[in-house]
Amino acid sequence: MSDWKRYYQEHLTTAEEAVKRIKSGNRVVVAHACGEPTYLIDKMIENASVYKDVEIVHMVAMGKAEYCKPEYAENFRHNAFFVGGTTRKAIEEGRGDFTPCFFFEIPERFRTDMPVDVAMITCTPPDENGRCSLGVSVDYTQEAVKDAKIVIAQVNEEMPWTGEHSLIDVTDLDFIVEHDEPLIELQPSKIGDIERAIGENCAKLIKDGDTLQLGIGAIPDAVLMFLGDKKDLGIHSEMFSDGVVNLVEKGVINNSKKTLHPGQFIVTFLMGTKKLYDFVDHNPAVDMYPVDYVNNPFIVAQNENLVSINSAVQVDLYGQTASETIGNLQISGVGGQVDFVRGAAASKGGRSIIAIPSTVKGKISKIVPLLDEGAPVTTSRNDIDYVVTEYGIAKLKGRTNRQRAKNLINIAHPDFRADLKKVYEQRFHCSFDE
Ligand code: COA
Repeated sequence: MSDWKRYYQEHLTTAEEAVKRIKSGNRVVVAHACGEPTYLIDKMIENASVYKDVEIVHMVAMGKAEYCKPEYAENFRHNAFFVGGTTRKAIEEGRGDFTPCFFFEIPERFRTDMPVDVAMITCTPPDENGRCSLGVSVDYTQEAVKDAKIVIAQVNEEMPWTGEHSLIDVTDLDFIVEHDEPLIELQPSKIGDIERAIGENCAKLIKDGDTLQLGIGAIPDAVLMFLGDKKDLGIHSEMFSDGVVNLVEKGVINNSKKTLHPGQFIVTFLMGTKKLYDFVDHNPAVDMYPVDYVNNPFIVAQNENLVSINSAVQVDLYGQTASETIGNLQISGVGGQVDFVRGAAASKGGRSIIAIPSTVKGKISKIVPLLDEGAPVTTSRNDIDYVVTEYGIAKLKGRTNRQRAKNLINIAHPDFRADLKKVYEQRFHCSFDE
């Protein structure tokens, strides 16, 4: 038996035994998004009564996040890089914490000021050389494996194999638990008329041969719907979903014009359905790298004609976005928004787009005179380029404060334009129409 096979056999254990290695006060990093080892997390929750103050760190939580429940407040404390539906309440109610951090810097945090005690990950079974793929979640997960004092791995046959840079060695794993189960899936978003109009407007800014970064949700999905007549698009993105696969099947996305990694999809995590996971499995065109490579603005910028598309909670009349909070209330995180806005700005021919519906359910304008009190700026006015709503496109880069405000008011919802024009006239001491 080869050395790695012996190592693997010797480190095989049950989930019940593995989670006993987590000690009170440990910092536990959980693999990101759809890479979460849900079986191991369930067993950790079953063992909750023996832990005190175990810190659970991750970015997007796609699982149940039961460690955020009030009944486990003594056992676990969640520390989020990104907040979502299952984790929002714990942070709002003070049972959890939020750590602001650009996505591309998370691995550096683990290397320096946030040492990792335990990494809990999912990976494929090993290949003939004793290497496992981290599949849909390479991002910060690979760094957590390198840095953690203990690595607990769920080896899951359902995890797709996603290339050379997604690999870890069997000998990196301290406790190996074999458990096959379908990965967490993200279903395609429901796209309504507003998202459709936003998608159509964004598509006007995308040219044949561009390389795209797309965020999560209905707006990126809607943008993809309007790219059917484009040619030779490429992907260099923190993530992508099923919508990209549809455009590959139509021959629209082929990565042929990319100036960095031509012919390759460069991505750090994946969220979608089985269709996406089957598409990336052993696909030589898909190359998944850690996030400190994919999202590093200096790497992003090496793609010419890089177009980034992200969303925001509010945009003020200077072009500052609040993308993570509603006032003081943390509802998400910076994710890769600024990584890609800055990368796109430095890319030859690059453009960045913040795409938003003009209102929240027709009642609240998302284009506002000033950001809500307490809202931190996500994309600064120095970084912002285009803002798009269902009413059109506002170019902000290279425009004065006055021109920016005018361009933004022209794409605000008509019901709110009169009030915004009054603010404009007071702020800039001139008539809106002159
Ligand atoms: N005022 C009050 N409430 C607002 C609001 C505003 N201006 N804007 C949004 N909301 C509310 C919505 O009503 C919704 O509430 P609900 O959950 O009770 O329905 C909630 O905030 C989320 O808004 P929604 O528009 O449904 O979110 P989304 O899924 O389209 O995501 C962002 C929008 C801004 C939260 C999201 O794009 C994000 O986190 N961006 C920052 C990170 C990023 O860009 N990452 C890059 C790719 S991962």
